[in-house]
Amino acid sequence: MTGPRKLYIKTYGCQMNVYDSERMAEAMGGQGYVQTDRPDDADMILLNTCHIREKAAEKVYSELGRYKGLKAAKPDLRIGVAGCVAQAEGEEIMRRQPMVDLVVGPQSYHRLPEMEARAGNGAKVLDTDFPEEDKFERLKGRSKAKRGPTAFLTVQEGCDKFCAFCVVPYTRGAEVSRPADRVMAEARDLVERGVREITLLGQNVNAYHGHDRGLAGLIRQLATIDGLERIRFTTSHPNDMDDDLIAAHGDCEKLMPYLHLPVQAGSDRILKRMNRQHTAESYLRVIERLRAARPDLHLSGDFIVGFPEETEEDFRATLDLIEAVEYGSAFSFKYSERPGTPAAERPQVPEDEKDDRLQRLQALLTRQQRALQDAMVGREVGVLFEKPGRQPGQMGGKSEYLHAVHVEAEGLQPGDLRKVRITDSGPNSLAGTLV
Ligand code: 5AD
Ligand code: SF4
Repeated sequence: MTGPRKLYIKTYGCQMNVYDSERMAEAMGGQGYVQTDRPDDADMILLNTCHIREKAAEKVYSELGRYKGLKAAKPDLRIGVAGCVAQAEGEEIMRRQPMVDLVVGPQSYHRLPEMEARAGNGAKVLDTDFPEEDKFERLKGRSKAKRGPTAFLTVQEGCDKFCAFCVVPYTRGAEVSRPADRVMAEARDLVERGVREITLLGQNVNAYHGHDRGLAGLIRQLATIDGLERIRFTTSHPNDMDDDLIAAHGDCEKLMPYLHLPVQAGSDRILKRMNRQHTAESYLRVIERLRAARPDLHLSGDFIVGFPEETEEDFRATLDLIEAVEYGSAFSFKYSERPGTPAAERPQVPEDEKDDRLQRLQALLTRQQRALQDAMVGREVGVLFEKPGRQPGQMGGKSEYLHAVHVEAEGLQPGDLRKVRITDSGPNSLAGTLV
């Protein structure tokens, strides 16, 4: 007697991959697969990969290496590689790791069930096309099962900006938006399944044009769904923060006061070489307007240190910009050469310089983050509870500003949205009591 086949998915990289993995698991559910969290128990292993920095890409090969023994012991184990490494290095993956049965690029996920059926018994299947059809529409099998109170929903993919360091325009292709009515239908479905907060995802989500009034139009329409309490979106480009989207931060109650708006660097010389198409000043002006619309807005950003030809003076301009903005959270990276991108060909900053700058940058960002978090003590915030905390009797959730908050209280359920007074600020989270 054999039970259902088991699928193990490991997800790397950004939230869009988290969403894609969910959709792929649901689609494979239609082929009789259930998910497992143990690779040694699986009939199929799928790595959903990230190509944004070299380290992320290399992880795939070391992970695959670990599965050699499993594959030897169980020859019909199917091994698949999905995501951006699949897109960028498809054939090379098959060459370097012959045990891989299938390689599927991010635009071809709807073909996965059929690819899985063809793979195995020595047959290799590779699909890294950019087909015309909407993969999300074709990815059947959205489940109706109850789920947690927060969900991601991809509304836009790809990017036309071509920042000189970034592989996204090559791996995910040109900017494509999903039509608003399909997004609305999916959002209603999620809400019926228990979701209270939706984060709209896109590589350049504020370039969304699937609604005649852009992302702001979509957000306002989503806000009409009863039972949907919170809307967020990520990730954005400063040049696509149009007037209506800025205004929505002030007048759309369901849009949360937290915005991830990467700037990457604070020196205009470097921003130009990065092909960012904005200056430090124009970025600061956008932030000023956002804060005029929503004074308590928490900002988050991405930073790259050691971009080719970045001098100490350029780097200091980044620190100055950070001082001027005061970020509530941030992600920072050492520049990583990506094959095929313009910046990879340029004179590189030595590794020890990059290390030194990253440390100084992160020290400043951590100080800011901690100061803003500590300033929450004594304030009242709304918390959407998600799951039990580490201690018995605790429930944890997120504030409007995306701070992790836990309280000790009986009877709270995931999905409850309650007012909480913050009493304490710890290293990674806030503590509070129900109001
Ligand atoms: N090197 C380092 N960081 C990078 N990012 C994108 N490409 C690179 C690269 N080649 C960072 C940017 C982007 C985030 C998702 O990853 O900061 O906003
Ligand atoms: Fe990459 Fe973002 Fe620039 Fe697009 S806007 S090229 S995704 S960093």
